[in-house]
Amino acid sequence: MKIKAIILAISAYFMIACAAPPATSNNSQNPAKKSADPNRKLKIGFAMDTVKEERWQRDHDAFEAHCKEINVECVITVADNQADKQANQVDNLLTQGIDALVIAPHDATQAATMVDKAKAQGIPVISYDRLIDSPKIDLYISHQVPIIGKKIAEYALEHKPEGNYVMVYGASTDNNALIMKNAQLEVLKPAVDSGKIKIVAEQFINDWRPDLALNFAENALTQNNDNIQAFVVSNDGMAGGVVSALAKRGLTGKVLVTGQDAGLEALQNIAEGKQTMTVYKPIIPLATQAVDSAVKLARGEALTTTPFHNDKLKVDVPAILLEVTVVDKSNLMDTVIKDGYAKYEDVYKNVPESDRPKKP
Ligand code: BGC
Repeated sequence: MKIKAIILAISAYFMIACAAPPATSNNSQNPAKKSADPNRKLKIGFAMDTVKEERWQRDHDAFEAHCKEINVECVITVADNQADKQANQVDNLLTQGIDALVIAPHDATQAATMVDKAKAQGIPVISYDRLIDSPKIDLYISHQVPIIGKKIAEYALEHKPEGNYVMVYGASTDNNALIMKNAQLEVLKPAVDSGKIKIVAEQFINDWRPDLALNFAENALTQNNDNIQAFVVSNDGMAGGVVSALAKRGLTGKVLVTGQDAGLEALQNIAEGKQTMTVYKPIIPLATQAVDSAVKLARGEALTTTPFHNDKLKVDVPAILLEVTVVDKSNLMDTVIKDGYAKYEDVYKNVPESDRPKKP
């Protein structure tokens, strides 16, 4: 009887032991585990805000192309300038077993929650082009945003050292707009203080929208009886709006207009003298390095970065910031055309052949 009971107890023990789950769960969401196999194909999520501006289409295509090139799977989502849509898309990406998450945020503050969620799952996060207000990001990769703001303002001041200025900033939800604004105002400050220039109007423009920039420019012109010498505009899309507002009043080419992105329409406007300058930010190196960095992070490898100070959070985050170039009528050929970023025929499309520089 006693022996029977012992046998029963022993077999019951083994039954329970076998049914119990293993001590370490085989969780496919665990990036550390997934990355342990160097031959496994990695998966990167890229949550974009928009592809409206031409540059973002380039980011999208270059990102995808590089993933293909290095045999990494990438899933790209586009939020159409809606913060909630982006949050849902990121939630969704996080259920797909991604090894790294790259976010070009719509809203710098809101995106911090997305970073928290990813990091809670052990997934590394890259803040792409736009700085996310989170101390937890593994990398901020962008162009030198403060330098872009500085170069735009310096160019304006050099070419219009006196007069009335209108400042057209980007979206207030985007750190790029804020960082550029601060850099621009720092450059202009001495001229403002001495009274050489006067900022007669300034505004953040929702979602960097060209139509809103046009309205704002029209109001500023009306309020100042068209007496404006410079529109310091933070990207090419909005510069297009300002150029239209100037055209309506017969002011084409008479007022300095800045921009950023080296978008084709802006380059054509520069060639025709309708826009004064832009800032060229090569996109392929940005997208390529973002993908490469995501792969390294997913494999737990170290990145070479420099610290960037997030003024709002008062913390340094690891950053890679790429160089930018000022482009105006004088160097179109030596910059964007030479680089193959834009084609000669496209840039000078609206310029009579006799007025074009010699074809390379
Ligand atoms: C980017 C610009 C772009 C703008 C509007 C900014 O964050 O840096 O290149 O023109 O967003 O999409």
